[in-house]
Amino acid sequence: RSYSIAVIAGDGIGKEVMPEGVRALEAASAAFGFQLDLKWHEFSSCDYYLKHGQMMPDDWKQQIGPVDAIFFGAVGWPETVPDHISLWQSILQFRREYDQYVNLRPVRLMPGVPCPLAGREPGDIDFWVVRENTEGEYSSVGGHMFPGTDREIVIQETVMTRLGVDRVLRYAFDLASKRERKHVTSATKSNGIAITMPFWDSRVEAIAAEYAGVSHDKYHIDILAAQFVMNPQRFDVVVASNLFGDILSDLGPACTGTIGVAPSANINPEGAFPSLFEPVHGSAPDIAGQGIANPVGQIWSAAMMLEHLGETAAAASVLAAIEETLVSANGRTRDLKGNASTEECGKAVASLIA
Ligand code: NAI
Ligand code: MG
Repeated sequence: RSYSIAVIAGDGIGKEVMPEGVRALEAASAAFGFQLDLKWHEFSSCDYYLKHGQMMPDDWKQQIGPVDAIFFGAVGWPETVPDHISLWQSILQFRREYDQYVNLRPVRLMPGVPCPLAGREPGDIDFWVVRENTEGEYSSVGGHMFPGTDREIVIQETVMTRLGVDRVLRYAFDLASKRERKHVTSATKSNGIAITMPFWDSRVEAIAAEYAGVSHDKYHIDILAAQFVMNPQRFDVVVASNLFGDILSDLGPACTGTIGVAPSANINPEGAFPSLFEPVHGSAPDIAGQGIANPVGQIWSAAMMLEHLGETAAAASVLAAIEETLVSANGRTRDLKGNASTEECGKAVASLIA
């Protein structure tokens, strides 16, 4: 087995945590006997922008080529490039051009990470948020009329297609069918958003009928957000539209502690295009350059990438190595009240991958 992977470190702590993500990948490759063909790219960074006036070259797709996956750090350096430019011209291009219609994030309480919710132990909270990543509320259909006058009108439409809704729901039900509890929770708001959300609900029922072994329920988004905080242990797979999923996929990791450990995947499940794996956090200009960033979000993203590539045993080993490292203060970084540097934490994880 051999995998070609585009490596894009980006900006700020992206450049510090990426080498640790790669260290874990290389340890997994040695331990589990697959080959890695890693190609590092300088583009999709603010450094590249300062040299070339754009975040990526016009032929970025050709330069990336036919890879098996993209391993991404973090992009953004607001001091030199405004965020709406740096993000729109980079990470959002990948999601759109590569039709990465599933955004997947684990919500899992890890050892060594203080849980902001009282009384929870590792193992209590362990679920997935599946966010629709290409349509829904984030559409470009709408208009802005009579700006600056008292007749001003702004409209932005939600666009749901049967194909778009069904495919993300199927992904969620497939995922649940492989888990122990086999349960899907759908985020809705059909009592207030009276056209698109009843459609979403009806597609949930239609797709659920294809999965006899998977149970499901639905919550309105407001009470669902409250349940994330009050009863996170009840969830298994949570599926949501683009906007609701955006909010839930930040709220979930926030309920289990530091942003520094949370990973995410932008997936094109059919494999027509490469999928992209990245930590949830950004480039953290406030701590960049000090060697203290937590590399676990990047390393856990490597585990998700290995899982996606079919290297299930390697993925499980990386995750176990993370858990073992986080238990000890010598393995944890400063944000988790440990005393390891970025590199020391990364090396500790890599040494446990076997
Ligand atoms: P951020 O995630 O970079 O930082 C938020 C806070 O969390 C900071 O105090 C930071 O020090 C801390 N933090 C983040 N990651 C950490 C880690 N691995 N270890 C220890 N502490 C960590 O979010 P912020 O400050 O809102 O954004 C900074 C830049 O990153 C902006 O340019 C933003 O647009 C960009 N960004 C990029 C993302 C991406 O590439 N997908 C995602 C989020 C933000
Ligand atoms: Mg978000």
